[in-house]
Amino acid sequence: MAALRVGFIGTGKKPEKPGPLGYGMAHQHAAAYQSLPAGVVEIVAVADLSRENAEAFCDLFHVDKNKIYTDYHAMLAQEKLDIVSVATWPHLHAPMVLACARAKVKGVFCEKPMADGWGAARKMHDECRAAGTWLAFNHQRRYGKPFRIARKLIVDGAIGKLQQVQFTCGDIYDYGTHSFDLSNYLNGEQRAKWVLANLDYRQAKVIFGAHCENQAIVIWEYENGVLGLAATGAGRGAVLAHNKAIGSDGIIEIGPQSEGNHATQLRIHRFGQGGWEYIDCSGEHCHGPGYIERAVADFIQSVQAGKPSEVDSENALKGTEIIFAAYESSRRHGRVDLPLTISDNPLVSMVNDGTLKVEGLPAPKPAPKPAAARKSAPPKKAAQPKPKAKPKPKPKPKPKAKPKTKKSPKRKR
Ligand SMILES: NC(=O)c1ccc[n+]([C@@H]2O[C@H](COP(=O)([O-])OP(=O)(O)OC[C@H]3O[C@@H](n4cnc5c(N)ncnc54)[C@H](O)[C@@H]3O)[C@@H](O)[C@H]2O)c1
Repeated sequence: MAALRVGFIGTGKKPEKPGPLGYGMAHQHAAAYQSLPAGVVEIVAVADLSRENAEAFCDLFHVDKNKIYTDYHAMLAQEKLDIVSVATWPHLHAPMVLACARAKVKGVFCEKPMADGWGAARKMHDECRAAGTWLAFNHQRRYGKPFRIARKLIVDGAIGKLQQVQFTCGDIYDYGTHSFDLSNYLNGEQRAKWVLANLDYRQAKVIFGAHCENQAIVIWEYENGVLGLAATGAGRGAVLAHNKAIGSDGIIEIGPQSEGNHATQLRIHRFGQGGWEYIDCSGEHCHGPGYIERAVADFIQSVQAGKPSEVDSENALKGTEIIFAAYESSRRHGRVDLPLTISDNPLVSMVNDGTLKVEGLPAPKPAPKPAAARKSAPPKKAAQPKPKAKPKPKPKPKPKAKPKTKKSPKRKR
C-alpha cells in the first residue's frame, strides 16, 4: 500500500518556552507521524502564512521546501493529500477543516479545542461525516497509562458503581477540553443530559487567541446518571486532582494535587480497606510522554480501517457540548438541557456585548448602528482578541457642557 500523503496547515515555531502565544504543536504531530513504521505516511507539503516557520519545519522533518504553500486552499487543490494535520489557533480550525472536507481528504487530525463556537464545532463534524473525511482532535491524554489504568479499574468494579467524575484545571475551554474528554472517557463515552454552571471573568485571559474564564464551577449529569463536577481557576481546591472518579466503594485520583505535580499519578482508596493504594504508571504522568504518538497512530490506523478513532469528532463533540453549555448556563443563569441549540461561544458573546466587564481588554467598540443600517451589515463576528492584552485606557474627563445622567448604567454583572 502506498504511503498516505500528509499535509500540514500551520507549522508553528518550535518554542523555547511553550506558552499561550505558541506551542509549536505541528512539530509534535510531525514527530508522531515520523515515529510510525516506515512507509505508512509521508509528509509531502505544508501551508503556513509564515515562510520562516514553514522552512524551519521542513528542515527539521525533511520536507521538500518546494512544497511550501502560503495558501492552504492551493495546497489542498494541488497536492492530492490523504491526511491533513491542522495545528493553528482555535478560531481557524473550522474554516480549515471544512476546506479539507471539501477537498475530500481521507482524514484530518486537528488540534484542540474543536472550534470557537458550538455551531462551528457541529458543522465541522457534520460536513466531514458527509464528505467521508475522518475528523479527529488531539485529546491525547486519554492514551496515557494513568487514565487507561483508571478506566480499567472502573470497568473491573474496583470502586463499585461509578457515581461521579470530577476534574480541576485552569479553565474549561483551553485546558478543560482535555479534562471533559477525560471525564467522558472514564465514564465510557457517555453523553451529558444537562449542565449547570457559573463563572467569573474579570481579568483578561486570552489563550491561543481565545477568551478563557478566570474561574468556573460546572456540574453536569450523564445519560447513565453519573454526575460530573469541575472547578477551574481559584476554585480548583474543590477537587484537588487532575481527574477523579468516585464510586459506591471507593475513589480513584489521577494526578492528585496533594502529591505534588508529577509525583504520584494514580491512587485508589477502597472504602473500608485502609488508606490510599498507589499504582505504578511506569513514569507516565498526566501530560505524557508519548501520548500524541499514540493518538496519531490510532487515528492513522482508524483511517486505514475506515472507522472512527478514539479521538474522533463524535467523541470530541460530547466534551465540547458541555463546555459551551457551561458558558450558556452562565449566560442564562440556569440549567441548560441538552442537546445544545446555540451556535456561538457564550463567553465571547458576553464579553462582546458588555455583559462581562473584563479588565485588561481593549476599549469596547462604539455603540451598534440603528436597525436599518444593521440589516445590511454582515453578521458580527466574535472579536478576535489580541494575544497580548493591552492595559485599559484611562477614562477621559467628562466635558462640562454636557448634562450628566444621575445614575451610571449598571452592568448585569
Ligand atoms: N494538545 C495539546 O496538548 C496542546 C497543547 C498546546 C496547544 N494546543 C493547541 O494547538 C493549537 C495550535 O497552537 P500552537 O501554539 O501550536 O500554534 P503556533 O502559534 O505555535 O503555530 C500556529 C501556526 O499557524 C500558522 N498560521 C496562522 N494562520 C494561518 C493560516 N491562515 N494559514 C496557514 N498557517 C497559519 C502560524 O503562522 C503558525 O506557524 C491551538 O489550538 C492550541 O490550543 C494543544
